Amino acid sequence: MQKLSEAAVKQINEICDRHVNDKTPLMMILSDIQKEYGYVPIDVQELVSERTGISVAEIYGVVTFYSFFSLKPKGKYIIGCCLGTACYVKGAQRIIDEFCEILGIEPGETTEDGMFTIDALRCIGACGIAPAVTINGTVYPKMQVNQVQEVINEYRKKG
Ligand code: FES
Repeated sequence: MQKLSEAAVKQINEICDRHVNDKTPLMMILSDIQKEYGYVPIDVQELVSERTGISVAEIYGVVTFYSFFSLKPKGKYIIGCCLGTACYVKGAQRIIDEFCEILGIEPGETTEDGMFTIDALRCIGACGIAPAVTINGTVYPKMQVNQVQEVINEYRKKG
């Protein structure tokens, strides 16, 4: 969302108006924007602030606190590497390092071609199959370092 188009401004205003009477309007507004655009950049936060009267500082605080929201666009495939305790003791750090090394990005970043984002996650409730990795909701159980390249290739082939 470089410069907000007229259509985007209209849609974001509509989202704000839709939730004006909700109990937690800000969460609802930001969730809808995240779902619609995939991220919530600063210029959008300013627009939400103007429309709702909620300060940009408060909006920014919410967007940066919850990992569900993103300030930057995410990749087509979001690789979530669990670094919770159970996964960590089973070598999750080496798994995420391997993803980072192969893709040339750090956790929280997206590849230049927009294909992959790597997220470091806390426990995702799959400790029994640690170390666990998720890619767009598909869970990869007991992930091994030597499987990482293969998994990336799989998604590259899909395009
Ligand atoms: S610690 Fe990774 S799933 Fe629980």
